[in-house]
Amino acid sequence: MANFRRIGVLTSGGDAPGMNAVVRAVVRTALDKGVEVVGIYNGYQGMIDDDMKLLTSKDVSHIINRGGTFLYSARCDEFRYEEGMQKAIANCKKHNIDGVIAIGGDGTFRGATDLSNRGLPTIGIPGSIDNDVTASDYCIGFDTAMNTVVEMCDRLRDTCESHARCNVVEVMGRTAGHIALRAGIASDASAICINEIPFDEAACIRSIKEERDNGKRSFIVVVAEGNGDYAEQLTKRIEEQTGVESRFVRLGHVQRGGIPTLEDRFIATQMGSYAVECLLEGKSNVVICKNGNAIVDYDINYAQTIDRMYKGKLSDEDIAALEPSVRAEMQAFCQMRKDQLHALYQIALEVAK
Ligand code: F6P
Repeated sequence: MANFRRIGVLTSGGDAPGMNAVVRAVVRTALDKGVEVVGIYNGYQGMIDDDMKLLTSKDVSHIINRGGTFLYSARCDEFRYEEGMQKAIANCKKHNIDGVIAIGGDGTFRGATDLSNRGLPTIGIPGSIDNDVTASDYCIGFDTAMNTVVEMCDRLRDTCESHARCNVVEVMGRTAGHIALRAGIASDASAICINEIPFDEAACIRSIKEERDNGKRSFIVVVAEGNGDYAEQLTKRIEEQTGVESRFVRLGHVQRGGIPTLEDRFIATQMGSYAVECLLEGKSNVVICKNGNAIVDYDINYAQTIDRMYKGKLSDEDIAALEPSVRAEMQAFCQMRKDQLHALYQIALEVAK
């Protein structure tokens, strides 16, 4: 058990509903174990700028139900350089911070590794509406964002039905199609287009035409934002080729805000509490992940390599350089993630008929 007196907590990268719930869990769990918590504002920028404050239990009262992050968030270029990192570490030392919990995505975990490698134990928690941390079944914020998309699509459905239109709805996710796929299924979408799986535009147009001929008035098509301006082009082609009046809708940042759902509050609490336990046990440079019903911790480098492998960002040489049994394990993991996505996509196709 590491002899920690004080730990820091920060949120970084794109905010996500449920981040506040993680901070609350971190503060309350740590205080329960006799460890103080310093809130670091504006992510890694706050470490550099010495923008920190000791948090009391009261500071985190009634934040479990609030969207955004009360610690604020920022993307920080300065932290990428040695000078910035050293400034950040010096400020942490000044505040007697023995370890850090960083909530965010990819960039946040890179920062966590940088701190861990420089002697400040740091643990990552995946917070991103995109749900795109491959090693984890779940990222905090995903459920709330999907529910927001479903609510928006239900509203669009009302007006589509009144006007006998089609709405092509572009949703967030960066290069990942998880929001589009699940929210699309739950919104009774006629078609769903994501980056990971080839989209059959001809089949989509054919089915809209056939359904209109059969008397169907409204159509929702969901497109993941990773497809560039495809959603706008598709809107035009649907109208031209089916005669169904069509409108393009980009939901945008509305998907990042809002009251976190029970699922997000719950997993945030589990992960926050587990992260404190890991840190106090002396673990460093790990990311907290959901694996089935279990909350587990993986080495960040391992998790980041799986992530890059899944996203096709590893070169052949990078892959060849991996230790054979580790490589096989990672490839099996990536295949499992792909299979999960394909199975869901298959369901989406079947129920859209
Ligand atoms: O990662 C979360 C996310 O909302 C993505 O879905 C989106 O592509 C991106 O962040 C938008 O970033 P920004 O808030 O910087 O415009």
